[in-house]
Amino acid sequence: MRGRLIALEGRDASGKSTQARILARRLGAVLTREPGGTALGERIRTLLLDPEVTALDARAEALLMAADRAQHVTETIRPALEAGRHVVTDRYSHSSLAYQGHGRGLPVDELGWVSDWAAGGLLPDLVVLVDVPDDVARRRRAGSDRFELEDEAFHRRVAEGYNQFAAGDPKLWKVVDGTGTVEDVAQRVWAAVEAHLVR
Ligand code: TYD
Repeated sequence: MRGRLIALEGRDASGKSTQARILARRLGAVLTREPGGTALGERIRTLLLDPEVTALDARAEALLMAADRAQHVTETIRPALEAGRHVVTDRYSHSSLAYQGHGRGLPVDELGWVSDWAAGGLLPDLVVLVDVPDDVARRRRAGSDRFELEDEAFHRRVAEGYNQFAAGDPKLWKVVDGTGTVEDVAQRVWAAVEAHLVR
């Protein structure tokens, strides 16, 4: 049986990377991330997150995310799914729609085409949105990479984008309250994923 692709999404400092790690361990799934997840992808990630890379055009940024995704799907995600493994990815296509779309202002429908093309049409089976309010995110944000250094309005647009996606497709999205202890949140994530897997 083919494995399932589960994406964890959320604004910066939502805690989703920690949750992705816990979930993957619990599921016995392959854990991976975007940007990154392949040797090439980690090099693209370094470029994309480098605060010294200034004035990167929004379309160039979107295409670098897409290039990373293409390599990630071909090299890491698809082979794992086909081998029957579940895959937990810390970010996937909806990060491009939230950040390059809602954050940077590029048209979300066009980003959807680019991302689908890059991914060879591979869609997530489930997306878990780790949701934290503005003040919690602001307190947790380390503020060191190119995205974390964006202003509050940018992060608020990203968060609003995620909430819109989730509200528009409740079958695909599970929204999990990201406040509380790591264990509290992990329990909520697990409940959402378990409900999906037995469906
Ligand atoms: P993130 O996943 O938050 O890593 P960490 O938890 O280690 O800080 O960092 C990745 C950044 O890349 C994040 O700010 C969102 C951004 N991003 C996009 O803008 N578009 C995308 O398509 C993806 C995958 C990520």
